[in-house]
Amino acid sequence: MRLSVIGCGYLGAVHAAAMASIGHDVVGIDVDPRKIESLSRGEAPFYEPELQELLAAGIESGRLRFTTDVAAASGSSVHFIGVGTPQQKDGYAADLTYVNAAVDALLPYLRPGDIVAGKSTVPVGTAAELAPRIEATGATLVWNPEFLREGWAVQDTIDPDRLVVGVPGGDAGTEAADLLREVYHPAVAKGTPFIVTDWATAELVKVAANAFLATKISFINAMAEIAEVTGADVTQLADAIGHDVRIGRRFLGAGIGFGGGCLPKDIRAFSARAEELGRGESVAFLREVDAINLRRRERAVDLVIDALGGSVFKKNVTVLGAAFKPYSDDIRDSPALDVAVRLHGLGAWVTITDPAAIENAQRLHPQLNYVADRDEALRAADAIVLVTEWDEYRRELTPEHASTLTTGRVVVDGRNGWDAAAWRAAGWSYYGMGRP
Ligand code: UGA
Repeated sequence: MRLSVIGCGYLGAVHAAAMASIGHDVVGIDVDPRKIESLSRGEAPFYEPELQELLAAGIESGRLRFTTDVAAASGSSVHFIGVGTPQQKDGYAADLTYVNAAVDALLPYLRPGDIVAGKSTVPVGTAAELAPRIEATGATLVWNPEFLREGWAVQDTIDPDRLVVGVPGGDAGTEAADLLREVYHPAVAKGTPFIVTDWATAELVKVAANAFLATKISFINAMAEIAEVTGADVTQLADAIGHDVRIGRRFLGAGIGFGGGCLPKDIRAFSARAEELGRGESVAFLREVDAINLRRRERAVDLVIDALGGSVFKKNVTVLGAAFKPYSDDIRDSPALDVAVRLHGLGAWVTITDPAAIENAQRLHPQLNYVADRDEALRAADAIVLVTEWDEYRRELTPEHASTLTTGRVVVDGRNGWDAAAWRAAGWSYYGMGRP
């Protein structure tokens, strides 16, 4: 099938490459010429495991190309919209400028029978608002939310745990759903749940899923706050409640909380939309979820201050991680970087390292000292702060090895990723989040 993908960021670029890999003829379109040049060379413009190989193979096969010219969408049967929906500059609502611009740009190239498939995360009601413009061309609008996780994006796109397609009523909707089944044929063939809904449900499925995940993380972080005043250990608590299959252990990792380009802005946009709909109270708890999440960053900073005897002024603090999570170079709303910047603001000499995100972090916060090599970054550290649980920090950095690099003997584990007993046994003062 011929497909177009408008927007070649974390979502669109992966989607385009993944669709080519399952046999489709795909053109990826973006307004950013630098991104397009890089993708056209088969180089991923951001860090995402497996993407590079998929891009190179797609381009080599002739089934994948990238352009800034939206006219290239002409002739595709399905046009995916994967542009960003960031938080508005002056409020909590989602900024739909890019979605609207993508649809407007696409309109002249739509033919009767084409499908426009929105993948961007949007406030409920967006599809209904966009539909008249699209339907005037004879095309059909569906909403097909994306659930990929950065760091696992390729795998999540090719082999998702469910497919959701919101369609309009009538034959057009049924036909559109059938066409999407063809698009995702390998996943459908292996029995992946394929859920056909109306537009509003599909839009809500996405924000509800992210709201639930964010709530789960803030729930365990709230327990961490209680653990901190009672001497309990939140990691043991999470293990114990996680054995209950109704609860589950995943996303019960207490620490400095969630960040990234999705969960924080999605829960805020959901609150804003619910208020517009007169149902603000239904998701009022999301404000609390957000507040708990942001408090944990402060808590990590306070722990470093306490650990260093009441002040970080002129202390060498090495921060392990800048990305909002491992296997990503994404620093959007990164709790890791936030902690580093706050420490710097308090007068610490902050050295920060990350296997993938230094370039992005440096652009945003040039005032920090960036060191690419982990061991070099650790030299002379008075305190080590783990904020992004990359394997080379969490699994591979042993207290014995760290002891050879610095005379400082303080670690603050912002992700509860380390074995506290092992660090203590090696002579370090260990501080976890919600752990005694
Ligand atoms: C999230 C969702 O997990 C995806 O399903 C969704 O498709 C995506 O948003 C999106 O809307 O596009 P992602 O932002 O890649 O994916 O990251 P997550 O793996 O959800 O992690 C989010 C944040 O939560 C990270 O900062 C991570 O460190 C933190 N986290 C995660 C915790 O603090 N504790 C945990 O137990 C798990």
